[in-house]
Amino acid sequence: MPEQQPAELISEAAIDARVRELAEQISSDYADKGDIVLVGVLKGSFIFLADLSRRLTIPRTIEFIAVSSYDSGSVSSGAVRLVMDVRGNIEGRDVLIVEDIVDTGHTLKYLIGMLESHRPASIRTCALLHKPGSAEVDVPIDYIGFGIGDEWVVGYGLDYAERDRTLPYIGMVEPDDQ
Ligand code: PRP
Repeated sequence: MPEQQPAELISEAAIDARVRELAEQISSDYADKGDIVLVGVLKGSFIFLADLSRRLTIPRTIEFIAVSSYDSGSVSSGAVRLVMDVRGNIEGRDVLIVEDIVDTGHTLKYLIGMLESHRPASIRTCALLHKPGSAEVDVPIDYIGFGIGDEWVVGYGLDYAERDRTLPYIGMVEPDDQ
C-alpha cells in the first residue's frame, strides 16, 4: 500500500513566492554592503538556502554549520550541540544565518553566540518558519517566511525522524511521541 502523504500546510507555490519576496528584501537591505555570507544550518535549511541564495541579487558566499538540538523524536531538550563549524573565515563579514525553522529559539540563540566569537561585522537571522507560540528564549529573527502554529511540520528540508525532507511543500504530521 502506498504511504499516505502529509497534509499540506504551505503549498509549493506559496513557498516559492515568499522565498522570492525574502530574497528581494534581503538584496535590498544589503545593497550597499560588500558580499554577505549565508550560513545555512544543517540539515533542515539545505533546500531553503539553495532557493534563497539563488534568488539574491547581491554578491554572496555560502557556509554551512551543523548543530543537533533534537534526538530522533520531536521533543526539544534545549541542549544544542555543535557538530560542524563554518569552514571559511567570517571575521569582518556580514553574516546571515539561514534556518528552516525557529521553534523554542535555543538553536538560533546558541548559533548567534557561537558565530559572534568569530567576530563578524554583523549577524542577522532568517527563518523560513517561525513558531512564536513555542518560544522559550528571546532571539531576534530579522527575516521570517511564515509564522505557524504548534503543528509538527515536514518537507522543504524539514524532517520527522529523517523522513519527508524532500517533500516539495510544507506538510503536517502527528509525531508518535507527543
Ligand atoms: C531543527 C531546525 C532548527 C532547530 C529549531 O533542527 O532545523 O535548527 O530544530 O529548533 P529550536 O528553535 O527549538 O532550537 P534539528 O535539530 O531538527 O536538526 P535538522 O535540521 O538536522 O533536522
